[in-house]
Amino acid sequence: MRKSLQTFGLSLFIVLAFLVIGIGFLFGIDNPVPWIMIAILIALPMIHKKMTSRKFVAWDDNLSVGIAVIDEDHKKLLSLINNLQTAVLYPTGEAFERQALSELVDYTKYHFAREEKLMQDNDYPDFEPHKEQHEKMIMQVSSYMDAYEKDREATIDELTSFLKTWLINHIAGTDQNYSQFLRDKGIR
Ligand code: FEO
Repeated sequence: MRKSLQTFGLSLFIVLAFLVIGIGFLFGIDNPVPWIMIAILIALPMIHKKMTSRKFVAWDDNLSVGIAVIDEDHKKLLSLINNLQTAVLYPTGEAFERQALSELVDYTKYHFAREEKLMQDNDYPDFEPHKEQHEKMIMQVSSYMDAYEKDREATIDELTSFLKTWLINHIAGTDQNYSQFLRDKGIR
C-alpha cells in the first residue's frame, strides 16, 4: 500500500478514536467504549513495532561463507537493506529513501565485482553461472529503477522486497557453493 495512504489511514483512525473517546465519556465515565479505544491507542505503537520488526533482517552465522572480506560485504548489504526498509516503513522523506536505495544498489554492484574477481582469480568452476545470476539480478533491478522513476510510491515496496529476498536467498544459497572451494585454496 502507498505510504501516503497508510499515513492518512492511520491519522484518520487516531482522529476518529479521539472523537469516540470524547463522545463516549459524554455517556458516563463507566462507559467501556472510550476505555477500549484508549487501550487500543496505547497498544498501537507496540502492535506497529511487532509488525514492522519482522521486515528487518539480521546477520546469522549460517549466512557466513567463511571468507572475512565477503562476510563483511554481506553484513554491509544486510545493514543497507535495513536502512532502505526504514525508509519504506517510516516517514523519512524522499531524499533519505533515494539515498538508501542508491547506496544498496551501488554496494550490491561493488560486492558482485569483488566476489566475481575472487572466483575468477581462483578458477572457481561455477564462476560463469554465478556471474550470470548477478547479471540477471542487476538487469531486474535496473528495470525496477525505471518503474521507480515513473511512480516512486507504487514501486518502492516491491523493489525493496525484491532486493531483500534476492540478496538473502543468494547469500544463503548460491554464495555458499563457492565457500569450501575457495577456503580449500587458503582464502579466509
Ligand atoms: Fe555475495 Fe554472489 O553475491
